[in-house]
Amino acid sequence: FLPLYRHNKGWCCSLMPMVGAVVADARFAARPSDIIIATLPKSGTTWIKALLYATVNRREHPADAADHPFNSIGPHDCVKFLEYQLYTNNSVPDLDRLPDPRLFATHVPFTSLPSAAAASGCKVVYVCRDPKDNLVSLWHFANKFRAREGQEPMSAETIAEVFCRGVSPFGPYWDHVLGYWDAHVARPEQVLFFRYEEMKLDAAVHVRRLAEFVGLQFSAEEEEGGVVEAIVRLCSFDHMIGLEATKGGKTELVVGTVANSSFFRRGQVGDWENHLSPETARRIDAITEARFKGSGLCS
Ligand code: A3P
Repeated sequence: FLPLYRHNKGWCCSLMPMVGAVVADARFAARPSDIIIATLPKSGTTWIKALLYATVNRREHPADAADHPFNSIGPHDCVKFLEYQLYTNNSVPDLDRLPDPRLFATHVPFTSLPSAAAASGCKVVYVCRDPKDNLVSLWHFANKFRAREGQEPMSAETIAEVFCRGVSPFGPYWDHVLGYWDAHVARPEQVLFFRYEEMKLDAAVHVRRLAEFVGLQFSAEEEEGGVVEAIVRLCSFDHMIGLEATKGGKTELVVGTVANSSFFRRGQVGDWENHLSPETARRIDAITEARFKGSGLCS
């Protein structure tokens, strides 16, 4: 991920995604019907992409159908990153031809969402994850990149130090979460806020919230038919990690091409305990408490 560059709005990321975000801001022609997933990297992007795609397309692609798109292409290609789509093409890709509702994803902070998106009133779905688990997931992912480049792995404590100083892809972590949280509090009908940990506890509850938020509530018939549970099963970590699209597929990101399998590691809450020292954990908790104090967000 390194080196990271600082955007004039205070957040940082590596060069290509930064360019992608600027181009997306300049070129994205939003529609009110668009739905944009926003996350920090390693906070559950793959999961929420899968859940949103499976929910929105459940009539055309029933979750339990053998030919569901996830069996062949995977969630990252079903819901592409805005900054990637618009950056990689010299001409503006024909996003106009995509059917409504168009689904996109982004990692940029709320204040740097394409201005057209904000103006259109389109819906935004945010997922936040415990910073310690987010950090540990990022650390593993970053070391995969480093290994590919022939670089030595980074220690968890090294990345934690940098993370705490506010330097992480699309971070500082706390600014990112607060930006979307405040937007959710101000306009709950426009910005939906999920927590990874709550989704892990009972994903079905959150699939219903998601469907309602995008105006596609489950009918009584669908509820009786177990459609929600089928979506939860289809998108579960245990199911997705075994799919051919995960085992053999690749995804083009602005930072390079990555194996789909690299988006699946453990998918657990609290894995940080296996990697961070108690002192580092306390330091992150203290920053979180101080930064989130009074916001209504508790860590
Ligand atoms: P871990 O590294 O803690 O296992 P992202 O999709 O934003 O890149 O985040 C990746 C993290 O989400 C990884 O966390 C990954 O294992 C987890 N993840 C991926 N798919 C998931 C799913 N279907 N359910 C729960 N967690 C998932």
